[in-house]
Amino acid sequence: MTAERTEARLDQSPRAQLSSAVSLLHQGRVVSFPTETVYGLGADAANPAAVRRIFALKGRPADHPLIVHLAAVEQLKEWAREIPAVAWQLADRFWPGPLTLILKKAAWVPPEITGGQDTIGLRIPAHSLALDLLKAFSGGLAAPSANRFGRISPTCAEHVRDEFGDSLDLVLDGGRCEVGVESTILSLINEKPLLLRPGGVSITELAEVLDSRPETPESPAAGLRVPGMLPSHYAPRTPLVIELPEKLCARANQLQAQGVRAAFMILKKTSAEIRREERIQIVEMPSQPQAYARRLYHTMRSLDRGDNDLLVVEAPPQNEAWMAINNRLLRAATPKK
Ligand code: TXA
Ligand code: MG
Repeated sequence: MTAERTEARLDQSPRAQLSSAVSLLHQGRVVSFPTETVYGLGADAANPAAVRRIFALKGRPADHPLIVHLAAVEQLKEWAREIPAVAWQLADRFWPGPLTLILKKAAWVPPEITGGQDTIGLRIPAHSLALDLLKAFSGGLAAPSANRFGRISPTCAEHVRDEFGDSLDLVLDGGRCEVGVESTILSLINEKPLLLRPGGVSITELAEVLDSRPETPESPAAGLRVPGMLPSHYAPRTPLVIELPEKLCARANQLQAQGVRAAFMILKKTSAEIRREERIQIVEMPSQPQAYARRLYHTMRSLDRGDNDLLVVEAPPQNEAWMAINNRLLRAATPKK
């Protein structure tokens, strides 16, 4: 697509952009849209050619399943079969919201979406523009995060444009994402619910509906193939290390002595302890986990654009409130093979 056409679309009112988005989606094109977690790369989930276009744009292996986004809870039965009662309870409580449920797929669902598996990931996003789009489109939208495979998920429209440039037909701009990290993924395939990815809905919140805590991948039930849980899945280009709070100062001194240019992402309370040196950039992160999550990818992306040799992240507390953040940081710190 030409720059001229992009410009014309950006000038349109949100309503006009929505109808452009809907007609592009009906034509089997890919449109990026905001959700409360991160921006998605959406296509008609019932159109295998459109879904293949997402994989091509992202450079994502074909066996990695996509989440299908819906507008209303009743649509669950269109896309899934043998839906357990607990799925309806979870949907009632958390949708629209950052929870993806893995269920057995309906027979007609194209294998392109599910990576050839018999299961499907479904969620209703809590973002007014996403919901307007889903209602106007009136079908399911397959949407992975709108980043190239293995890179940081985008939390604003500008990130998506940086990532894909003119190769995307349209990016709907819904501002900054409220949650900032991807949805919680809960599998309801086996007898016991299994947490596949920590995210915007916490284990404690899930347990209120499930009556017990879900299993986690460390527990014996976790024999599932979960491509999104590959190591190094959320990585900046600049190497990233996680450092314990008590070792931050020594690390800063050592890097300074070595002439390494480094950015430190530290929790607000720690900031006074590090000496500010020429090559050391300090970014203070919120000490409250929801606020930290909202800023995490944004900060990682902007530091990654700078000319740093290294990103040093202060290890956040190791408790449940920080689970999704610690999960993403660990992946970002894993060197790519
Ligand atoms: O918050 C989110 O979930 C965002 C927004 C756009 O909704 N989407 C997102 O999509 O993070 P993606 O494709 O980047 O990550 C989806 C994850 C992948 O790790 C994939 O393996 C997992 O969901 N997934 C999808 N369907 C699955 C299935 N049937 N079984 C197991 N895992 C599945
Ligand atoms: Mg992703």
